[in-house]
Amino acid sequence: MVRVDQQGQPNKTKPHKRPHKRPHKRRPKKRHKTGGFDLISPLYDALAKLTFGGAILKAQTLLLPELKGARLALMIGGGTGEMLALALRAYPQLNVRYLEASEGMIKRAKARLSQEELARVVWVHDVHLALYERPALLDGVDTLITCFFLDVLSPSEARALILWVGTHLRGPRGPRASINAGRAPRWLLADFQPHRGWRGALISLMYAFFQLTAGLRNQRLADYRALLREAGWAEFNSECLAQSLIYSARFKLLFEEDSSEA
Ligand SMILES: C[S@@+](CC[C@H](N)C(=O)[O-])C[C@H]1O[C@@H](n2cnc3c(N)ncnc32)[C@H](O)[C@@H]1O
Repeated sequence: MVRVDQQGQPNKTKPHKRPHKRPHKRRPKKRHKTGGFDLISPLYDALAKLTFGGAILKAQTLLLPELKGARLALMIGGGTGEMLALALRAYPQLNVRYLEASEGMIKRAKARLSQEELARVVWVHDVHLALYERPALLDGVDTLITCFFLDVLSPSEARALILWVGTHLRGPRGPRASINAGRAPRWLLADFQPHRGWRGALISLMYAFFQLTAGLRNQRLADYRALLREAGWAEFNSECLAQSLIYSARFKLLFEEDSSEA
């Protein structure tokens, strides 16, 4: 509709906007939908044991010795907390920040722990993006643990997270400035390996299952080990399991001045 002024001429000024009665409130940013994992949380452990001959848990337990000397670990997407419970039991000096998107998973993880173990965990019920908004979540962290978590992110999200963590840990608020100076930060990773052929088909089937049951959006694995190496993490002592479908990998962060030391 063309507006006209009092002389009947088309009005070229912008249409009059109604004044706001109240100052405009900022909408909270929309988060990813990951609550889908709530639905499968009661079945998750049984599924993980049934598939891949138990290699999903085995790949995580192989990483445990690397927590010797760790003081503060950030575990992202830790699920029902099997690895968390084993780690806290094995290393009484260890504290953990547990960043997990699913409430159902967190409930199950808490149920595994004793009072003393619970006191060593800070629960962060949120998606990984919380790190970008609250970088202090990484303060003092000397070990990152991501087991079968990076595969839920798109390859570009996983890459962005890996780059961001490295930059933060190398900065003035990284572990150099914290209680655990002297121990190069570790990244402990267990995940699926990208494949073609029958292994690739199996992985596609698994993604289809999580798309249906958990509403998972990502459908593609990336080579997370290569992403970590590109971001300046040095890989050591990696192992492959379940016909090379799964790997357990350990990394140390290289600092510019001591890339030969780590
Ligand atoms: C495939 S499960 C792996 C669970 C466990 N780490 C294991 O190895 O058995 C992925 C976990 O990541 C959580 N998750 C999914 N998206 C997430 C996100 N963006 N940030 C944090 N956690 C997320 C899910 O709720 C789920 O517990």
